Amino acid sequence: MKGVGEILISEERIQERIKEMADRITEDYEGKDVVLVGVLKGAFMLMSDLARQIRLPLEFDFMAVSSYGSATRTSGVVRILKDLDYEITGRHILLVEDIIDSGLTLNYLLKYLNGRRPESLEVCALLRKSGIQQVDLDVRYEGFEIPAEFVIGYGLDHEQLYRNLPYIAFLGQKQVS
Ligand code: IMP
Ligand code: MG
Repeated sequence: MKGVGEILISEERIQERIKEMADRITEDYEGKDVVLVGVLKGAFMLMSDLARQIRLPLEFDFMAVSSYGSATRTSGVVRILKDLDYEITGRHILLVEDIIDSGLTLNYLLKYLNGRRPESLEVCALLRKSGIQQVDLDVRYEGFEIPAEFVIGYGLDHEQLYRNLPYIAFLGQKQVS
């Protein structure tokens, strides 16, 4: 089993950046009712910390998706495991994602959600891997651009582990005890 490698983004830097994004969101959506839509499971940490810094009335909804393919590669074919609980037609939707790798999952989700005619649809993603997106994406709120390597922590897993780390780390070669 692989373990935790070098830390890429500390807990403190993550929280600082989230505060900055939340302040921008608070400003941009002043006077509007926003629905935060989290993509499970990876986005649960960001969703929770971000929401607590946004000074607006918020509603919450969640989707769960899985991409067909192996653990560390996405195929672009997305399967919806859990759909939204509520209608989003005419609503201001902010989609909250953990990480953009190929961008195929997000691309699919944006098309899917746009089909339901929200009033607006924007994306907040904590991480974007540098230079490897296969599609053009318009991400309004982006936390950090990172190298195109596999990372874990702060919601992100490797074989379902490490989501609870409060920082982002590379995946280590072997288990560190
Ligand atoms: P994409 O469709 O290639 O952009 O991949 C998106 C999904 O793959 C993310 O929402 C994650 O769940 C997962 N993923 C991509 N890169 C990583 C990584 O480095 N660590 C953990 N999960 C990842
Ligand atoms: Mg994800």
